[in-house]
Amino acid sequence: MMEKIIILDFGSQTTQLIGRRVRELNTYCEILPYNKMPYDDPSVIGVILSGSPFSVYDEKAFRTELDRLRGHYPLLGICYGAQFMAYTYGGTVEPANSREYGRAHLSKVNEADPLLRDITPGAQVWMSHGDTITSLPDGFSIIASTDQVPVAAFRAGDEKMWGVQFHPEVYHSECGMQLLRNFVVDICGSRQSWSAASFIESTVAELKAQLGNDKVVLGLSGGVDSSVAAVLLNKAIGKNLTCIFVDHGMLRKNEFADVMRDYEGLGLNVIGVDASPKFFADLAGVTDPEQKRKIIGRDFIEVFDEEARKLTDVKWLGQGTIYPDCIESLSITGTTIKSHHNVGGLPEKMHLKLCEPLRLLFKDEVRAVGRELGMPERLITRHPFPGPGLAVRILGDITPEKVAVLQEADHIFIQGLRDWGLYDQVWQAGVILLPVQSVGVMGDERTYERAVALRAVTSTDAMTADWARLPYDFLAEVSNKIINKVRGVNRVTYDISSKPPATIEWE
Ligand code: XMP
Repeated sequence: MMEKIIILDFGSQTTQLIGRRVRELNTYCEILPYNKMPYDDPSVIGVILSGSPFSVYDEKAFRTELDRLRGHYPLLGICYGAQFMAYTYGGTVEPANSREYGRAHLSKVNEADPLLRDITPGAQVWMSHGDTITSLPDGFSIIASTDQVPVAAFRAGDEKMWGVQFHPEVYHSECGMQLLRNFVVDICGSRQSWSAASFIESTVAELKAQLGNDKVVLGLSGGVDSSVAAVLLNKAIGKNLTCIFVDHGMLRKNEFADVMRDYEGLGLNVIGVDASPKFFADLAGVTDPEQKRKIIGRDFIEVFDEEARKLTDVKWLGQGTIYPDCIESLSITGTTIKSHHNVGGLPEKMHLKLCEPLRLLFKDEVRAVGRELGMPERLITRHPFPGPGLAVRILGDITPEKVAVLQEADHIFIQGLRDWGLYDQVWQAGVILLPVQSVGVMGDERTYERAVALRAVTSTDAMTADWARLPYDFLAEVSNKIINKVRGVNRVTYDISSKPPATIEWE
């Protein structure tokens, strides 16, 4: 049985990070909504309570039955999780004089406490809270303080129940990983057996048992998730897997041919379908971003469905869905900004059962699995690319001619990033074709041509992102090349917006 840590999510922005840190400790964990604790699961070895946007006094504050956790599992409360423990058992939580945000240093540390093993005074932690614990319940004791916050960490008597006011999961908490290791490994007793290799072994066995001799069809996008899902399924069921790669005409320059070659090299059974005329026809004259996405999503389903029907006896639809797409609780306080899941309608339409072998993995784990499966680095380190492709990077209506212009400019930018050794330093990059023309001069001629924007961001999960500080000399070279080589473009700009408030894509 696979031992696991449960992270109860009270709505904090950093809950997912807690999950990633626990996985980095080679320990399997699941993030569940605060009220969905699986009390009858015997494989749970410990529980972490996350932070929250609420104060414990808010009427809307999320609460869970602590009595059913206390004494049953080792517990760690983080920020709101800690305040909620203190408040529930009779301590006092009050609004801090000023909201405390940012770096702080532990001034006093009880180094004998197992949660704080190898953490010494002076250790840097990251604070982000409006409330603070001003008195602890009877029998609880302070185990760490900062100059500003006397109750930076506490323990309930000699029980296995701790609370920390700071956020050990964020990178700026330098002792955070040590603290989480102390909790997960020493206190909860994780054997740290979760790894890419163990995941592959158990997943391939499960897929064989689940699928037997059934046939599976899977849509490939050229991205890392669907590719790794395909290779994993291929390892489990071989020729019973058929992959379909649809070219909607808005992929990057040469992408269809390059990716098909890679797939064939991996021994996958792939059908490539050039459906670009259909997509271009249906998109003609459409300018609204959501409308474009809907049309592409619908056409994709039609094309995929038509191809899949040519296969006989297919029972399953394979998908490269990954954990962040599935964490139900991430939506407990969230809103949808853009409709991303462009193939969301496929399973219903096709009456197929869903097979999602990567649904428990974070992106970096998907990459580790891909490497372990021997996939080429080119496929594994590829930047994310939106399903609707260049369609959401052409502002205004889409024509094959505009796609061709954008493909050239994009190719120069991406190739430049590779040549300068910058590709792996950015999360993703691309060029946006703007619906703007401006005056220029080329030779003796006045020009009146298009402007493009370069976009490159750093990020760890695409939820937040910052514009990449690319070297000026690099930007100068790319700008020159684009203006000189791409006909129809006479101006290059660089997008310096962070997310939020902007998004990564322009549409
Ligand atoms: P935004 O623009 O919301 O993008 O900051 C976050 C991440 O999602 C990708 N993206 C999409 N992916 N279909 C996709 O499969 C879409 O419609 C879509 N829109 C954005 C984007 O490239 C970034 O990685």
